[in-house]
Amino acid sequence: MDDLKVGKRRIREITKSLHSEEEIRCKIKEMAEEIDRYYSQLTDRIIAVCVLKGAIHFFSELVLNLNLDVLYSFIHVSSYSGTRSSGRVKVNYWIDRSVRDEYVLVVEDILDTGLTLSYILKYLRKLSPKDLKLATLYRKVGKSDIEPDFVGFNIEDKFIIGYGLDYEELYRNLPYVNYFER
Ligand code: IMP
Ligand code: MG
Repeated sequence: MDDLKVGKRRIREITKSLHSEEEIRCKIKEMAEEIDRYYSQLTDRIIAVCVLKGAIHFFSELVLNLNLDVLYSFIHVSSYSGTRSSGRVKVNYWIDRSVRDEYVLVVEDILDTGLTLSYILKYLRKLSPKDLKLATLYRKVGKSDIEPDFVGFNIEDKFIIGYGLDYEELYRNLPYVNYFER
C-alpha cells in the first residue's frame, strides 16, 4: 500500500502523460458534439448509463457538454484483477429505471476485450430500449468485435491509468491519463 502511494506521487511528479487533462476535455467536447448531432433528428432526451467506476469522470464531463435532456443511470460491474481481465463479469449495481422505448447511451471508460460491454449490452437489449448506443473514451485497437458508436482515443494494447481508470482501485483521480508501468 505504501509503495503504491509513493508510486502515485512519483507518477504525478515525473511521468509525461499520454493525454493531458486539456486534451481529454477537448476530445470529450468533440464527442459531445458528435453525439448531439446523432440525436438531434431523433429525440430531445436520452438515458445515459454510466459504467462505474471507471467512467465516472468521462460521464460527468460528457453529459455537461450535451445539449439534450439527460437522465442519469448507473451500472457497477467489475471484471479486472490487476492488469488482466478475470474473464468473468460481476454485477454490483444495475440500472434503477426502465429503459423500455427510451434512447439509451452507455458510457464506458475503455473497451478492451469487450467482455464487460458485451455483457452489459446483451442485458440492456433485453429491456427493449428504442435505441442503444455506446460511447467509450478509450479503445484498445483490435481486441474486441464490439464497434462503439462514439470513440474518443484509439490506443495500443497497454494498461493505462488516470481520469477514472484504475490499477487495483488506485490512480483514478489522476487528472490525466498515462501508461501504467511498474
Ligand atoms: P473488457 O471487459 O476486457 O473490455 O475490460 C473493460 C474494463 O476493464 C473497463 O471497464 C476497465 O474498467 C477495465 N480496463 C480495461 N483495460 C484497462 C486499462 O488499460 N486500464 C484500466 N482499466 C482497464
Ligand atoms: Mg477498472
